Amino acid sequence: MAKGELKVGFVGAPRGAGFLAGFEAVSETQVVAVCDVREEVLRETADRYGIERRYTDFEEMVQSDLDIIVVSTPMPLHVPMAVAALRAGKHVLSEVPAATDLQQCWELVQAVRESGRTYMMAENYCYLQPNVLVRALVQAGLFGEVFFGEGEYIHELKELNEITRWRRVWQTGRNGCTYPTHSLGPVLQWFEDRVVSVCCLGSGHHYRDPRGDFYDNEDTTLMLCKTSRGGLIKVRLDMLSERPHNLTYYSLQGTHGCYEAARGLGDQPKIWLASRHPRHEWHPLSELEEEFMPEMWRHPPEEALRAGHGGGDYFEVRDFVDSILRDSPPPIDVFTALDFTVPGLVSEVSIERGGVPLPVPDFRTLQRFPEDLPEELRNSSILKVDLPLTRPD
Ligand SMILES: NC(=O)c1ccc[n+]([C@@H]2O[C@H](COP(=O)([O-])OP(=O)(O)OC[C@H]3O[C@@H](n4cnc5c(N)ncnc54)[C@H](O)[C@@H]3O)[C@@H](O)[C@H]2O)c1
Repeated sequence: MAKGELKVGFVGAPRGAGFLAGFEAVSETQVVAVCDVREEVLRETADRYGIERRYTDFEEMVQSDLDIIVVSTPMPLHVPMAVAALRAGKHVLSEVPAATDLQQCWELVQAVRESGRTYMMAENYCYLQPNVLVRALVQAGLFGEVFFGEGEYIHELKELNEITRWRRVWQTGRNGCTYPTHSLGPVLQWFEDRVVSVCCLGSGHHYRDPRGDFYDNEDTTLMLCKTSRGGLIKVRLDMLSERPHNLTYYSLQGTHGCYEAARGLGDQPKIWLASRHPRHEWHPLSELEEEFMPEMWRHPPEEALRAGHGGGDYFEVRDFVDSILRDSPPPIDVFTALDFTVPGLVSEVSIERGGVPLPVPDFRTLQRFPEDLPEELRNSSILKVDLPLTRPD
């Protein structure tokens, strides 16, 4: 394919700009358009990156001659925009999470199936170096059978709730594991499994927003996920507690090895593997890099390093574009995206009902909606969530 032949536009300028370096590094694509309803943000972004075509109306951008649309708007807009783009024949790279209710999940699946276009969710934490290496070690069989994992997203963002005001409704204005994909995504890739049921409890409400209202999301929520092969995954989400961040804590336990990500303050990712380490002692994960890191990551092309995050931003876009060029499913296709997203939605019903375990539907096998949903979810609060984008002042 000729250089820059696939024309890319992104909607939602601030986060969209984060994808620029990745697309610039992939020679088959060029970013030619940007859309945002805020004219000033649109102008600033387009000027800074020299993007010619500017839209304030998404519909107009969808009807243009673009090949790829990157959806990086607030959470509840991901599905309506992805669906409109797919139906107009565009390939879609969507920000996380994939959807904000079950009805959206269903609509997204239908649009992907009917359009035949490529849809990928941009779960960038799956492209963090330590996560990629752990995945390679699992695939090489060094953990034995994997049966327990953890993911934590601890990111105090009360102030950000007042700047990006949709967060106060869609992340901290709902209760449960409302932003699960960064934690669950990499762990589920290690498990090569999906979640079949979840239960969720919270730690109560200890902080108020600037208007004096308690956040609807409990300060820490814990979601326990049972996988189809009987494994257990614990996800901790905390966007409110006063404390330093840790967005990327993970752990993994298998019959022959275990892993813990860095906790901060000079800590480093550490591993123990029965086949390599005779005593029960931690070793730095980095010791295994030379032998097990996938070749692409060990010797990344120059452009990958320029794109940032140790090549992760490049590899994410590269995977997406390769799946378009080869007409093959992307690594985080619509069903995988929902595997990362839907447990979080179901956790909201669980927390509402005192932490009861509830089934997580598999959209691969759903024939009719909502009839084929598990009974507990058919008339639940996550079937269709009708909330405003931001709270009225
Ligand atoms: N993967 C990650 O690491 C990561 C990091 C940050 C944000 N995100 C995700 O990215 C998305 C955006 O987050 P953000 O922090 O950049 O939010 P933001 O509020 O800063 O940006 C969203 C932009 O979308 C624009 N917008 C809203 N409605 C629109 C419409 N109808 N048409 C065109 N533009 C519209 C807004 O004007 C705003 O500029 C969210 O879904 C968030 O979950 C992901």
